[in-house]
Amino acid sequence: MEFSWLILLPFSAFIRLTLCYQDGFLSLTCGGSVNYVDSSNVSWTADGYYVSKGNISSVVFPEGTSRSLRFFPDSLGRNCYRLPLHNTSSLFLVRSTFVYKNYDGLEKPPVFSVSLGTAITTTVNLAHTDPWIEEFVWAPNKDVLPLCFHSIPNGGFAVVSSVELRPLPLGAYSAALGDWSSKLMRKAYRINCGYVDGPLRYPLDPYDRIWDADEDYSPYHVSSGFDIDSNFSLSGIKESPPCVILQTGRVLARWNSLVYALPLDNLGDYHVVLYFAGILPVSPSFDVLINGNVVYSNYTVARWEASSLFFTVRGIRSLNVTLKAIAYYPLVNALEVYEILDVPLESSSTTVSALQVIQQSTGKDLGWQDDPCSPTPWEHIGCDGNLVTSLRLSDINLRKISPIFGDLLDLKALDLHNTSLAGEIQNLGGLQHLEKLNLSFNRLTAFGSEMEDLMNIRVLDLQNNSLQGEVPESLAELKDLHLLNLENNKLQGPLPQSLNRESLEVRTSGNLCLSFLTTCNESSSNSSLQTPQVTVFTPGKRKNHSHLGVLLGVVCGAVLALFAIAFSALLYIKRKRGESTSIPKSEVDMHTWGSARVFSYKEIKTTTNNFKQAIGRGSFGCVYAGKLPGGRLVAVKVRFDKTQLGGESFINEVSLLSQIRHQNLVSLEGFCCELKHQILVYEFLPGGSLADNLYGAKSKKLTLSWVRRLKIAVDAAKGLDYLHNGSDLRIIHRDVKSSNILLDTEMNAKVCDFGLSKQVAQSDASHVTTVVKGTAGYLDPEYYSTQQLTEKSDVYSFGVVLLELICGREPLTHTGTPDSFNLVLWAKPYLQAGAFEIVDESLEGSFDAESMRRASLIACRSVERDALCRPRISEVVAELKEAYNLQLNYLGTSAAN
Ligand SMILES: *[C@@H]1O[C@H](CO)[C@@H](O)[C@H](O)[C@H]1NC(C)=O
Ligand SMILES: *[C@@H]1O[C@H](CO)[C@@H](O)[C@H](O)[C@H]1NC(C)=O
Ligand SMILES: *[C@@H]1O[C@H](CO)[C@@H](O)[C@H](O)[C@H]1NC(C)=O
Ligand SMILES: *[C@@H]1O[C@H](CO)[C@@H](O)[C@H](O)[C@H]1NC(C)=O
Ligand SMILES: *[C@@H]1O[C@H](CO)[C@@H](O)[C@H](O)[C@H]1NC(C)=O
Ligand SMILES: *[C@@H]1O[C@H](CO)[C@@H](O)[C@H](O)[C@H]1NC(C)=O
Ligand SMILES: *[C@@H]1O[C@H](CO)[C@@H](O)[C@H](O)[C@H]1NC(C)=O
Ligand SMILES: *[C@@H]1O[C@H](CO)[C@@H](O)[C@H](O)[C@H]1NC(C)=O
Ligand SMILES: *[C@@H]1O[C@H](CO)[C@@H](O)[C@H](O)[C@H]1NC(C)=O
Repeated sequence: MEFSWLILLPFSAFIRLTLCYQDGFLSLTCGGSVNYVDSSNVSWTADGYYVSKGNISSVVFPEGTSRSLRFFPDSLGRNCYRLPLHNTSSLFLVRSTFVYKNYDGLEKPPVFSVSLGTAITTTVNLAHTDPWIEEFVWAPNKDVLPLCFHSIPNGGFAVVSSVELRPLPLGAYSAALGDWSSKLMRKAYRINCGYVDGPLRYPLDPYDRIWDADEDYSPYHVSSGFDIDSNFSLSGIKESPPCVILQTGRVLARWNSLVYALPLDNLGDYHVVLYFAGILPVSPSFDVLINGNVVYSNYTVARWEASSLFFTVRGIRSLNVTLKAIAYYPLVNALEVYEILDVPLESSSTTVSALQVIQQSTGKDLGWQDDPCSPTPWEHIGCDGNLVTSLRLSDINLRKISPIFGDLLDLKALDLHNTSLAGEIQNLGGLQHLEKLNLSFNRLTAFGSEMEDLMNIRVLDLQNNSLQGEVPESLAELKDLHLLNLENNKLQGPLPQSLNRESLEVRTSGNLCLSFLTTCNESSSNSSLQTPQVTVFTPGKRKNHSHLGVLLGVVCGAVLALFAIAFSALLYIKRKRGESTSIPKSEVDMHTWGSARVFSYKEIKTTTNNFKQAIGRGSFGCVYAGKLPGGRLVAVKVRFDKTQLGGESFINEVSLLSQIRHQNLVSLEGFCCELKHQILVYEFLPGGSLADNLYGAKSKKLTLSWVRRLKIAVDAAKGLDYLHNGSDLRIIHRDVKSSNILLDTEMNAKVCDFGLSKQVAQSDASHVTTVVKGTAGYLDPEYYSTQQLTEKSDVYSFGVVLLELICGREPLTHTGTPDSFNLVLWAKPYLQAGAFEIVDESLEGSFDAESMRRASLIACRSVERDALCRPRISEVVAELKEAYNLQLNYLGTSAAN
């Protein structure tokens, strides 16, 4: 029996079916230098913009045409094209053509692998097929899709000649696969069944899929052209096969089974799509079998209708598609077969951005792009699945262990030898999986307080640093430690006996005096207490002060990006005479501790019941509730970090603070400064902070009457007045804010946190920003711009506190109109005009207008931009007292009425 339906397709039908769909096409001619439009009307672009590596070459084909190509002699790392996906929700076809054709004259076709996103997709072997074309279908849901080539040992240089990106119709190919986040497809076959005249693609297929001719697929076929009626419906098929592909089909003629036997490259899972079109004058029906199993029984192809079937077949090495006749003659018009590939999970975005920040801080391009672990780990990085478990950096300039390292939570091994690290070992306490830490050949000076948190550490290499003082006892808490290398440091004193155990090798050579024997001179171990320096100024030499301000500003500014200055406190000592000089602490009498006492760490632990109850967390550290042996309640502040300034400066400041005693300043009860701890013990104020009382969750706003607010203001101003003028010391608080004003049970107010916050060592800018947020609204703009610090900066901040008391709102908000975001800018014009409608509404009707006027005017003057126009704090105290008395009188009169 012969088939004789052979109706030629009118030419016009072709035109009708040709859509001009080039939106979203990206066609790169690799190594090319000119853009052009090819015979299929596809616009080709030179690839330079999309790839950063590789050398350019070209091949000339025997027929005279030539083709440019790009090869990648740099065998290390990923060689990537980064393809922009303008519509991340779309499905894409990515096609890459690899041509060797002996372009290098070496007759050595390369073998290399190709990855897309995180997935290694295939191995290209140009000795086997040249040119080699790969096609992938994926909805990667990214902005940028990396297509990379990876050399394999002795495989030669990867070489590529074109890269194409094509959007595919929405919903196509996904029905059986579902989730594109974990799967992508690699084309195995796309056959235009029954068609023998070469491949068809764009513009016949508007999506530019290449449909291969059927001619190679013997043993038997009939190729025919059939009319596609104008009302022929493709609407049910999401893959939108072009009509021109469906108008031909392979039809069984002689045997009762139509078979496609398709060898496959790999053992794996495959997605098979069969397309049928009712182009015969009959409606044939047949069973569909895949590898001998019926996957669809009695399938009927209706006349004038197009349809498709898809199957996912798992774990196959070859594929037989068999159509077994039931009625008439089985027919198929097109078929596609894709290998389904798993897409490895990406690393967490926290890890990726931390690594990007680290790359930036090295000042080098480490080639760290896209995912750190897949398809192959970045250089310097080791992975376990999508977890970054090791990081090795050396011979670069990191300077300090930035907090960002603390984000690499899965690290098991961290090697930062020879990276110019200085200061203390910090920010690593959160790395609970860390087993191996190599910080050798740096300039680290202190162990820091987080060492004992590294519960799983096994190897700790600290050789050739500048570690000073004693080896902290807490290292003994690291039970798994079996190598501790402390060679070539400046450590001294006996090693803690608890480190003397069989499972642990401690290397100590090259230190001042370090061993388990107690023969070392212990007197030197307390050096931090004995050598602090105090900077002394002549009170008359104003110039010196501003120089110091500028100097500190510049130094801090460089590190802390201006903002952090707000957290520093600058202490001046007024001496009767003499030049600016430094004196060793040994010359300062021990009685300068005042009434503050020195606590041991053990005592602190007892006092706080082992740090049981945290009552606050500030820029400085954590605050814990504590109880002294006598029953007195205290607030115990434990610093997060020591600073670059180190222990000496801590001792200096404690020494100064311990001399400050005033009823409106929270007093220092004592401190603890054992090698790795810096702890301050303050009197405990049960009333909470002014900020808590104004804005706290359990807002006591209503209980804060105007007279109470004025009392608090007077108290706090008196405290500041004492700091500025009250003693031999001249102290600028530098962090006056409503949360630094504490209340006792009688609503007496005391200023706290003075003089110490400068030791917040934050050279990491991102952390400074988060810390600064709370204080930003209090910052003296003039100090901020000139970096010249005077007491007037405290006055400004205090003025902001006054405005808070008056208006009952925080200094910065993001509600309301932009005009009202900043309390100072918003409130000042109203208050200056005596427009008291902006006064806290809970005060409405309960304040004396003159009292309010006095308070608001002094508040407005305090927040003048020009520091010279601001009052001194003593004047503020006087004015507030007036306002207070006026309000008392008002209350007295209104009570009498
Ligand atoms: C080629 O494409 C352009 C638009 O991209 C279109 O205007 C032109 O008609 C096309 N030419 C052919 C021969 O299809
Ligand atoms: C690749 O190019 C670089 C400079 O562009 C050149 O130094 C190198 O020799 C080239 N490599 C090969 C294998 O041609
Ligand atoms: C992105 O693609 C989806 C599906 O193809 C489409 O619905 C959507 O309109 C496209 N969005 C843009 C901005 O092109
Ligand atoms: C259009 O399709 C219908 C079936 O849906 C068929 O009956 C009709 O003959 C077709 N039109 C032409 C012109 O062939
Ligand atoms: C596919 O068919 C060929 C011959 O038709 C047969 O030799 C082969 O075993 C079949 N493969 C499978 C997996 O059924
Ligand atoms: C196949 O299906 C058609 C209708 O779709 C039905 O008429 C016919 O009897 C079925 N044949 C077999 C063998 O089941
Ligand atoms: C440390 O790194 C510097 C470059 O930063 C390098 O010059 C030096 O040789 C390295 N030292 C060691 C001991 O590796
Ligand atoms: C740490 O790094 C240094 C420098 O590469 C190396 O000599 C030393 O062996 C490393 N330490 C460990 C414990 O691997
Ligand atoms: C390590 O320290 C020792 C002793 O200070 C010194 O001799 C040696 O050169 C240092 N090694 C390196 C690589 O700096």
